[in-house]
Formats: sequence, C-alpha cells, structure tokens
Amino acid sequence: MIILVGGEKGGSGKSCLAQNIAVFLTREAQASVIMVDCDPQRMHIRLDPSA
Ligand SMILES: Nc1ncnc2c1ncn2[C@@H]1O[C@H](COP(=O)(O)OP(=O)(O)OP(=O)(O)O)[C@@H](O)[C@H]1O
Ligand SMILES: [Mg+2]
Repeated sequence: MIILVGGEKGGSGKSCLAQNIAVFLTREAQASVIMVDCDPQRMHIRLDPSA
C-alpha cells in the first residue's frame, strides 16, 4: 500500500501527518513502514548526515 500526503503549500503539516500515520500503522497494524519525504525544496537531499 502506498499513501501519499501531498500539497504545494509549505508548512501545512504534511510531514507531521505522514509521521503520525506511519506511527499508527506501525503500532496498531504491525505494518512495516518506509517514509519518503519528497520536499520540493530538496532540503533533505542537501543535509549531510556526517556533519
Ligand atoms: N495538526 C497540527 N496542529 C498543530 N501544529 C501542527 C499540526 N500539524 C503540523 N503542525 C506544526 O506545523 C509546522 C509545520 O508542519 P510540517 O513540518 O509537518 O509541515 P510541512 O507541510 O511538512 O512543511 P514543509 O512544506 O516545509 O515540508 C510544524 O511546526 C508542526 O509541528
Ligand atoms: Mg515537510
């Protein structure tokens, strides 16, 4: 199953809602969940995990 939380407006709560859905599915449905945040500003791509 793929669930898309989308919208062009910034700061409208997309990531927050997606995270809550992921936690709910993990805890209540024992689902294996992968979250992918496709931020149009590509902020996550620029993050350096080693920094
Ligand atoms: N239901 C809610 N009630 C109160 N605050 C909320 C709610 N949902 C999100 N927020 C707050 O609003 C802010 C923006 O939320 P979030 O980062 O999820 O938005 P976003 O749509 O993913 O933003 P972006 O477009 O920058 O990725 C955060 O500070 C978050 O804690
Ligand atoms: Mg976001």
